Amino acid sequence: MKIAVVGATGMVGEVMLKVLKERNFPVDELLLVASPRSVGKQLEFNGKNYTVIGLQDAVDARPDIAIFSAGGGTSLEWAPKFAEVGSTVIDNSSAWRMDPTKKLVVPEINASELTKEDKIIANPNCSTIQLVMALAPLHEKYKMKRVVVSTYQSISGTGVKAVKQLENELAGVQGEMAYPYPINKNALPHCDVFEDNGYTKEEMKLANEPQKIFNDHSFAISATAVRIPTSGGHSEAVNVQFENDFTLTDVRRLLNETPGVVLQDNPDTNTYPMPIYAHDKDDVFVGRIRRDESQPNTLNMWVVADNLRKGAATNAVQIAEYLVENKLV
Ligand SMILES: NC(=O)c1ccc[n+]([C@@H]2O[C@H](COP(=O)([O-])OP(=O)(O)OC[C@H]3O[C@@H](n4cnc5c(N)ncnc54)[C@H](OP(=O)(O)O)[C@@H]3O)[C@@H](O)[C@H]2O)c1
Repeated sequence: MKIAVVGATGMVGEVMLKVLKERNFPVDELLLVASPRSVGKQLEFNGKNYTVIGLQDAVDARPDIAIFSAGGGTSLEWAPKFAEVGSTVIDNSSAWRMDPTKKLVVPEINASELTKEDKIIANPNCSTIQLVMALAPLHEKYKMKRVVVSTYQSISGTGVKAVKQLENELAGVQGEMAYPYPINKNALPHCDVFEDNGYTKEEMKLANEPQKIFNDHSFAISATAVRIPTSGGHSEAVNVQFENDFTLTDVRRLLNETPGVVLQDNPDTNTYPMPIYAHDKDDVFVGRIRRDESQPNTLNMWVVADNLRKGAATNAVQIAEYLVENKLV
């Protein structure tokens, strides 16, 4: 396999290389790609040094798979060029997610939709991935009607510039700002840009992507996305109303049996998911499971995952693994 990692110098790109190595992905040849600012830089993978190259050189090398984590604009312009030379693109940006001709894939839920003809495959938004991982087994059994989700999102979700902003604030240094306000000791109800309806783009991704992943438009989602000064992962308070009633024992059993989901739910021992524990792990952690006593058939839960792992790199590498195992590339 000839693999290109586009955006190799970024937050997601760095974790992508780690995950490819950890999972022993069959990399025979590796192309590390970034913007002209980084061309010529040296990066290490599996004990070997690689020189960062530009996008055109990577297209000319015709990789089997190109994993993009370099922003929507780069994907819109360059993913089709890779597809044209026969590469399969797995894209982490929002560029192709809602395009009806592209698949939006969380492997545990809908990898079976993939075919050889899918040359640009979209990785869902990080907050969406952890949400649907927790909802999938419950939706299958009880059928969701409506979800209300509030997020507490890590600064690592904004990229290197945001991590630098927090480091500068902690060190008392004036520097480039990723956010319109300080993030240390703050909570910004503002993830990604505002849209005409008053929601942010991040909130609309959460509202629209799950229906496409489940291939089911029978439920509705309302979201509030908030940035907080954590770095290990995103947390979500999830309120979900089902058509059918459930027992908490059954909910816990279903989540416990779901590959990729880990139950951490014991108030007696203060056991619940937190970004500090989810950091650097591939699983989605679920806890604080309670019945919503204000209306029937409704559940509250708390869902945490490392946005750079299952929210981005791990999910993308799992898609690549599926393509290889099923001879789709
Ligand atoms: N962070 C997350 O948790 C997360 C989760 C899911 C999806 N994503 C998506 O993944 C992408 C990357 O996010 P990130 O957090 O890793 O951002 P980041 O830390 O800012 O990294 C951006 C990467 O893209 C490269 N890049 C920027 N412009 C480019 C261009 N014109 N041509 C080629 N490469 C270019 C950068 O290269 P240089 O170093 O040369 O500038 C860098 O490698 C974004 O689309 C983001 O929405 C992020």
